[in-house]
Amino acid sequence: MQAFGIDIGGTGIKGAPVDVATGKLLAERKKIDTPQPSTPEAVTEVVRELVRSFSWSGPIGATFPGVVTDGTVRTAANVDKSWIGTAAAGMFAQALSGKALGGTVTVLNDADAAGVAEMTFGAGAGVGGTVLMLTFGTGIGSALFTQGTLVANTEFGHVEIDGKDAEKRASERAKVLHDMSWSKWAGRVDEYMQHMEALLSPSLIIVGGGISKESHKWVPLLTGVRAKIVPAALLNDAGIVGAAMSAAGVGVG
Ligand code: BGC
Repeated sequence: MQAFGIDIGGTGIKGAPVDVATGKLLAERKKIDTPQPSTPEAVTEVVRELVRSFSWSGPIGATFPGVVTDGTVRTAANVDKSWIGTAAAGMFAQALSGKALGGTVTVLNDADAAGVAEMTFGAGAGVGGTVLMLTFGTGIGSALFTQGTLVANTEFGHVEIDGKDAEKRASERAKVLHDMSWSKWAGRVDEYMQHMEALLSPSLIIVGGGISKESHKWVPLLTGVRAKIVPAALLNDAGIVGAAMSAAGVGVG
C-alpha cells in the first residue's frame, strides 16, 4: 500500500509518497521552507503545494511539531502560537479535498511519527521493553514505546534541567545558537539523557533529527547512560514514513 507523508517542522516542510509495506520513499522527497510566520493558513498552503507537486491522490498523513489529539493541535512551541486549538486534520482535509482518500488527513506529533517508523523499519525493529526515541532539531521531540506500543504525545523535550526547558539547552538549535562545540553540546545531551534514564529506564534510546546524520561526532561522547544509544536508521525521513504509515492505518500502536 502507498500513502503520502508530510513532515511539518519549524524550519522545513517535507513530503514524499511512501510504500508503507517497506518504509521506502517512492520518489525523492521535496522540501519547502516553513513560511514565517508559520500560521495555519500559510503552512496549509505549503501542504497543498507539496501534494499537488506529486500529483498525489490517496491516503495522506502529516506530522506536527506539537501535541496533537484527535486531529487538533494543543501546543506549538516552535511554530506560530495561533496553531493552538486549530483542528489541523480538518483544515488540511478541506484544503486537499478530492486528493485525500476518504476526505480525511491524519495528523500526529512529529517525534511520534518518527518513532513509529523507526520501531517498524529502523533501529527499533523487533525491540521489546521500553524504547525511547529522541529527535534533536529545532526542539527536542520524544516518542516512548513499551513492547512496541506508542505512548503518544510525551513531550519530554520540555522536562526542566537546571530550571530550563531541556530543549532550550540541548536541541540542535541550541547548539547552533550558542555556537557550542560537539563536546560541550554532547555534555548537555548526556546530562539530559541521564535525567530521562532516571525517570524511564529504557533499554534502547534512538536518536533522530537532522543531526543524527552526524551521530559519529557526538553519540560516542554520550557515556553517562546505561541504555544502548543508536542513531535513527531512517535518518531524517522517519517523520515522512511515520506520517504515511499513520494515514494508511499501519504500525501505530
Ligand atoms: C514540541 C514537540 C515536538 C518537538 C520536536 C517540541 O518543542 O513541543 O511536540 O515533538 O518540539 O519538533
